Amino acid sequence: MKILITDKTENEVIQKLKDAGHEVTFNEMDPNTLLKEIPNYDALMVRSRTKVVKEVVEAGAKGKLKVIGRAGIGVDNIDIQTAAKHKIKVVNAPTGATASVAELALMHMLALARSLPKADSSTKKGEWLKKQLKGRELSGKTLGLVGAGNIAKLLAKYAKAFDMQVIGYDPFIDEKAMKKDGIKKIDELGKLMEKADFISLHIPHTSETHYIINEAMLAKMKPSAYLINCARGGVVDEKALCNALKDGKMAGAAMDVFEQEPPSKDNPLFSLDNVVVSPHIGASTKEGQLRAGVITAEQMTKVLDGKEPDYWVNKKYFA
Ligand code: MLT
Repeated sequence: MKILITDKTENEVIQKLKDAGHEVTFNEMDPNTLLKEIPNYDALMVRSRTKVVKEVVEAGAKGKLKVIGRAGIGVDNIDIQTAAKHKIKVVNAPTGATASVAELALMHMLALARSLPKADSSTKKGEWLKKQLKGRELSGKTLGLVGAGNIAKLLAKYAKAFDMQVIGYDPFIDEKAMKKDGIKKIDELGKLMEKADFISLHIPHTSETHYIINEAMLAKMKPSAYLINCARGGVVDEKALCNALKDGKMAGAAMDVFEQEPPSKDNPLFSLDNVVVSPHIGASTKEGQLRAGVITAEQMTKVLDGKEPDYWVNKKYFA
């Protein structure tokens, strides 16, 4: 079958699809070319650059498109409901970059606690801020996880190694399952915001989670607490966050994701000393990208072979 890949992918992934008997085209095409070309393909594989909007899905449906593979976790760049309407399956790789994202969140926790960016830039400028840069330990503190899926569970394990207590808010996971992963379930998000010293977000961006971390939630944080977002922009109200940081309602924030990506260089968060940022690199490791690509290729092949995929994202929208 004919597979189109429109975002950068490892040769191993392309080879895997070829070994399964498929004809693979790799072309980082622009949106108009994609719209014209998509009807000729049985399958489309993307990462986050390609926006698989309604028009693209409908054009594919008029042709022979059967499956869209997202080599990663978040499917906010794919119109999964329109795809379901046309019986096009959307699959992803939810476990591909688990370690990569959990490690980045842990790195951001440590960077915040020890003001690493400031320590680095000031020392390189010839300043010696030994006295000013008094940090905090992770040891003995409470990590609050918002969302308790694969990434959060691994971060909980890492946090335990740092002698942290771990609490979690996730309406979809029961107390027993969380306890098994060393996470104490908290029923209300507000309570978690009040108790935690480090709050790390691990939820998708949906209409239900939009601005879930808003002015009211930020106001509940301890003034000594930190917020880490390696999940999705849009789950945090950046304007409210900026105000909370300026007003000393919280100690700091680390952001790998933004409401607008790439963010403007004038984003008000960038002028704050207690904010650490990175350019949405949670899943960007050699290992994570390869794993996500391979898993997605396997899932797409399953669909093309008429089998049910394990990671079928839009299953619930199929009538
Ligand atoms: C993912 O959802 O897989 C990661 O956030 C990576 C990305 O979207 O670029």
